[in-house]
Amino acid sequence: MIKRILCIGIAASLTTCLAPCQQILADGTQEPEAKRILGIVPNYRTSPSIQDSEPLTIGEKFKIASDDSFDRGTVALAAIFAGQSQLTNANRSFGQGGAGYARYFGTAYGDFVIGNYMTEGVFPTLLHQDPRYFRRGIGSGWSRLGYAMKQIFWTHRDSGFEDLARLGYTERVIQESMRIYPPAWVFARTPVEDDVIGGYHIPAKSLVVISPYVTHRLPDLWENPEIFDPDRFLPKRSEGRPRFAYYPFSAGPRQCVGASMATLEAQMIISMTAQRYQLSAPPGLSPGLKPRISLTADRTLWLTPVSRACAGSAVTDR
Ligand code: HEM
Repeated sequence: MIKRILCIGIAASLTTCLAPCQQILADGTQEPEAKRILGIVPNYRTSPSIQDSEPLTIGEKFKIASDDSFDRGTVALAAIFAGQSQLTNANRSFGQGGAGYARYFGTAYGDFVIGNYMTEGVFPTLLHQDPRYFRRGIGSGWSRLGYAMKQIFWTHRDSGFEDLARLGYTERVIQESMRIYPPAWVFARTPVEDDVIGGYHIPAKSLVVISPYVTHRLPDLWENPEIFDPDRFLPKRSEGRPRFAYYPFSAGPRQCVGASMATLEAQMIISMTAQRYQLSAPPGLSPGLKPRISLTADRTLWLTPVSRACAGSAVTDR
């Protein structure tokens, strides 16, 4: 049954992908640029030329997101990803058979659609960025690859100038904040069968409480755990650290589905705020913790923003 569903999914995908990708326009000329990479991956966010950088309207940005989302290539990719996830039983709770495949497909397709709208419509609109230049639609395969790699570090804005997206330090600050104060500081699991962990017998159906707040402060895993030190997340200093020493978003099949989005949002909010304002806390402020479902401060933290333009300083990220 699974095989049949997979075959149908993959066959549908291949038929879709092998169909001619370049459209003949009404006047007999060919569409100037293929809108699918390798005939499969929808690529409406490219532009024929990087010189042609007229700012897009909000509507045009969302049109790119819609074109990429409701393209036959996106459906084909979702079908392939769903098949692969079902084969590897990536999420046991989805089950197998037709219903299981439908869940995998729905999730994969939903991921594509949400991803497209967020990265090509919502964020470019909020940040006044141009979604077209993350990938380029002209040139050789190697030049496109090189361009895409470069775009990981550079972003283009409506205004036409380039910002160097050096968010490395910001990301480490976020990681370190969630190490010391993980917002989801405790959660629980129920083992489906008996197990032994670290010499302790864990009976099936018992309540196992897991706390990243505790793990993130274990001196065996973290040097000077009480010290705020974002650079402890530098690759060099992370070598040898066990995979599950750090899990602010939990881990395994039920880990947070919003982890990437939450991290991206935090990076944007912090870096955009820090670029414009210096935030200062009242002298002597020393809040305590209020551990409820999520971990918060025990009082409202009032910070004073001072415009960097007024203060005459510019912020640079490392
Ligand atoms: C800093 C922000 C966030 C933190 C620290 C966080 C943390 C977590 C953790 C630890 C879990 C697992 C809980 C458990 O296993 O009992 C979880 C689950 C989940 N989170 Fe988040 N989360 C954050 C933001 C978000 C966002 C922005 C979304 C939605 C866009 C989201 C959606 C979810 C969902 C749907 C689950 C349940 C997943 C499942 O059970 O399969 N989270 N989150």
